[in-house]
Amino acid sequence: MILVTGGAGYIGSHTNKALNQAGYETVVVDNLCKGYETFVKWGNFEDYDFGSGDLREVFEKYDIDGVIHFAAFSSVAESVELPQKYFKNNYKNTLNLLKIMREFGVDKFILSSTAAVYGNPEKIPITEDQELKPINPYGHSKWITEKALEREAEKGDFNYVSLRYFNAAGCDFDCEVGELHDPETHLIPLVLDAAIGKRDSISIFGTDYDTPDGTCIRDYIHVNDLASAHIAAYEYLCEKGESNIFNLGNGQGYSVREIIDMCKKVTGRDFDVEIADRREGDPDILIADASKIRNELGWQPKYDLECIVSSAWKWHQKINNI
Ligand code: UFG
Repeated sequence: MILVTGGAGYIGSHTNKALNQAGYETVVVDNLCKGYETFVKWGNFEDYDFGSGDLREVFEKYDIDGVIHFAAFSSVAESVELPQKYFKNNYKNTLNLLKIMREFGVDKFILSSTAAVYGNPEKIPITEDQELKPINPYGHSKWITEKALEREAEKGDFNYVSLRYFNAAGCDFDCEVGELHDPETHLIPLVLDAAIGKRDSISIFGTDYDTPDGTCIRDYIHVNDLASAHIAAYEYLCEKGESNIFNLGNGQGYSVREIIDMCKKVTGRDFDVEIADRREGDPDILIADASKIRNELGWQPKYDLECIVSSAWKWHQKINNI
């Protein structure tokens, strides 16, 4: 049985579905502060806070073999406002989870990490061995969690894989689960809101970046590709019994303008685009060098940007009754 914390959230619910489809048994633990119980359509569900000592009850009830840990706060902007909230939940509560895992002899752990651990990278594409210099509390909270895992693994009888996501995007092709943040801050769902007229326009946060069209470049990866990478990482832990860290991206960058153009193409709708000030803390370019996970786990992403936007559009139409 795999324990999936945060399995009622965006990436967690897609991965929980993929795990069950691959034949794994799962128990989702989620306190539903950000997630949706309706997203837990596969496996078992337990309404617990992963940072609480009560979580032991879940370990007593189920025969847990490993933990895939999605539960975390992930808004960069909020982390700047409320750093303690991020350090407490993302770091301190993870230590609590690790302690309980030790007590129950559970030795496999996968962490949802982030490209935010790199801060403003020194070179593009970004390799895993680049120096980590997070520039916001969110990235910092994940970085110190990675460090805690490294120390835990050094003690023995414990292995982890840390997956550093670039920009998760897209939705389940069957629309059984999808992206539903409140408030929504991510580019693609906001652009799709403009496409359906829920917003008057989409704002581009800065056009004076050091990129060909002046807007920020990011590496967007389909959430189903992220899900399959977690399964590959879990199999690696089972077979190799080694710890490792991998970037999860497509290795290809798209500017904000290119994303908007793709959304216009996929939806067939036009909408206003406004130029706004830069958003604080946005690096010019983030693109993964995703060769390490390809070489070591044989995993590679399947879905391109058009597929990412098409699947997000299908979900967007469903939740907005279009
Ligand atoms: N953007 C706009 N207008 C908007 C929203 C976003 O121009 O209305 C721009 C942003 O400035 C950025 C790009 O679109 O350049 C992508 O922004 P997102 O908010 O969708 O994603 P981020 O790259 O900021 O953040 C993502 C994850 C974070 C993670 C980070 C790692 O959501 O959790 O990648 O770099 F920390």
